[in-house]
Amino acid sequence: MSYPALTYTLGDRQVARLGYGAMQLAGPGVFGPPKDEARALQVLRDAVAAGVNHIDTSDFYGPHITNQLIKQALYPYAEDLVIVSKVGARRDEKGGWKPAFTPEALTQAVEDNLRNLGLEVMEVVNLRSMLDVYGPKEGSLEPQVEAMIKLKERGLIRHIGLSNVTAKQVAEAQAMTPIACVQNLYNLANRQDEALLDQLAAQGIPYVPFFPLGGFSPLQSDQLSDVAKELSATPLQVALAWLLQRSPNILLIPGTSSPEHLKQNLASADVKLTPEIVQRLNSIAQP
Ligand SMILES: NC(=O)c1ccc[n+]([C@@H]2O[C@H](COP(=O)([O-])OP(=O)(O)OC[C@H]3O[C@@H](n4cnc5c(N)ncnc54)[C@H](OP(=O)(O)O)[C@@H]3O)[C@@H](O)[C@H]2O)c1
Repeated sequence: MSYPALTYTLGDRQVARLGYGAMQLAGPGVFGPPKDEARALQVLRDAVAAGVNHIDTSDFYGPHITNQLIKQALYPYAEDLVIVSKVGARRDEKGGWKPAFTPEALTQAVEDNLRNLGLEVMEVVNLRSMLDVYGPKEGSLEPQVEAMIKLKERGLIRHIGLSNVTAKQVAEAQAMTPIACVQNLYNLANRQDEALLDQLAAQGIPYVPFFPLGGFSPLQSDQLSDVAKELSATPLQVALAWLLQRSPNILLIPGTSSPEHLKQNLASADVKLTPEIVQRLNSIAQP
């Protein structure tokens, strides 16, 4: 791996800060099987061979498909591989995203993850708030966090994380149980979580931005392209390098279905940004 110094503690495991998000491996709309299964398996194997030891997934990707691909490609898993999943949603017959947010549904989801990944215990599971599917919404998550604590007590989960949550919800959950990580929408252009990110950094808790490249429509900006040209890098490599320099507790899980893009994303650790360039990139953020 070309970035050995870039590690951070997730739960009680040390992981490379450049990980991999597996959502793009399912079919179009994260629904059904991939068009090219061999390519999907290759991406997973290449990632681990390159030193990735943090993979983000969910049983509702596909559904089930992404986890089954991970198992097919990587089982038996390397000892240092940390697979992080999330629960809280389900898919309807058309691929729509629906809440599955009762304690019973959360329990079922953890059991589905374990079965499809071939694991006896999940290292980290994020409780993905579904109070609003499209973004964080205030409201108590107490019953859901309680259900996660029960799953931990049953030995099915080692660490509990949160996703799509507000700072208030993080505080509420932390009063009930240790929180291992927070996974929210954040990237060069979407920076509503600045305060929460800094707060978690002060506590030594990983912040895992989802859509680090902008999600289904990757980031595009003239300023980003100009910087990329100057650095002989791609715009998306610069976007990842910006996240790496933003805070040491940021763990990256860029998603791709392409072995070539995977290679480019991992090489973003070698893209060095000067303070002057960081300042220029900072101005891309939407107010
Ligand atoms: N907690 C949540 O609610 C939540 C929500 C969304 C996602 N997630 C997690 O976050 C992970 C990352 O999010 P994401 O995959 O949706 O978005 P992303 O990482 O921001 O971007 C993925 C998109 O960028 C493209 N891409 C990746 N590398 C590229 C490259 N080097 N050059 C050009 N295009 C590139 C991908 O297409 P190609 O396949 O063609 O490369 C795909 O369209 C997911 O895998 C998932 O595990 C969590």
